[in-house]
Amino acid sequence: MILGIESSCDDSSVCVSEIATKRLLFHRKISQEAEHAKYGGVVPELASRLHAVDLPRLLEEAAPYLDDLQAIAVTNAPGLSVTLLEGVAMAQALSIAKGLPIVAVNHLKAHIYSLFIERDTIFPLLVLLISGGHTMVLDVHGYDEIHTLATTMDDSFGESFDKVAKMMGLGYPGGPIIENLAKKGDPDRFDLPIPLQHSPKIAFSYSGLKNAVRLLVEEHKPLDERTKADIAAAFQKAAIAHLMQKSKKIFEKIRPKDFAIVGGASANTAVRETFANLCAQYGATLHLADLQFCSDNAAMVARCGIDGWAMEDFTDALTIEVSPRANF
Ligand code: KG4
Ligand code: ZN
Repeated sequence: MILGIESSCDDSSVCVSEIATKRLLFHRKISQEAEHAKYGGVVPELASRLHAVDLPRLLEEAAPYLDDLQAIAVTNAPGLSVTLLEGVAMAQALSIAKGLPIVAVNHLKAHIYSLFIERDTIFPLLVLLISGGHTMVLDVHGYDEIHTLATTMDDSFGESFDKVAKMMGLGYPGGPIIENLAKKGDPDRFDLPIPLQHSPKIAFSYSGLKNAVRLLVEEHKPLDERTKADIAAAFQKAAIAHLMQKSKKIFEKIRPKDFAIVGGASANTAVRETFANLCAQYGATLHLADLQFCSDNAAMVARCGIDGWAMEDFTDALTIEVSPRANF
């Protein structure tokens, strides 16, 4: 069995998975969203204090499995250093006490493995990763063969939803709030620019669109409910059109057989529908994680750890490091 630990941002999560069958035996997550909502975004110091309270509680719930562990998988990058340290410190203590190897898991790779919980992997796979911290297209050939084909030049897709929600005073996290509001709005009342529409660059950018929304919000203050919904709908339409236009260029080059969308923002229904159409157009199969595994969780960390364990990709408990950034 392998223990999974996740604390890269505002979710404390612990799980136990069986290595041979990949079965998830225990999985618990405590989200801190309500605590951070008061401040309109994640407060790192508060997040780390909450992890310090919640992770040991979750570990205690996993106590019946601890004697059967063969390894520990823990997220060590990328993420908030002060929150990553909480999970890593717990992994270090357990590793030393029980003589267990540690698989240090890249959080972005863990999101890819959210597709394979209790399943075998599918490679090669073209992956669109959309989360609060990242917007990337990845060409994935295996556990340690991942190539970045496109990334964001500034804000990420999920982050732009969070910021637009904050501008309109709607709360945190903005993704589900904007998505729900957009359903009630007219996406054509306002004409927002699709980022890098006329650029040949295969990259993402959300800061220009975010600023265009800021100007719209200023212009229409105080916002009535109708205008809020129309802005949300226009923003979401432009944000997704950008994802689609750049991904389409990559589809033209790679012609993938298998394509997946992962990360917290992959829960967005309009994103899912848009990419289902793109896949149908190119004869690709669309893979999506179960909704419960789209946002940060330990199950995907342990699943990635199972492949790391098989390759003996271990990190020393005394020298494991955390980092806000990570490459493949
Ligand atoms: O993967 P995740 O849980 O954490 C990070 O690794 O960042 O992703 C969280 C991000 C937040 O920015 C949140 O607003 C966004 O995913 N998100 C969404 C939706 N649900 C969550 N964005 C757009 N539409 C959604 N339905
Ligand atoms: Zn994430």
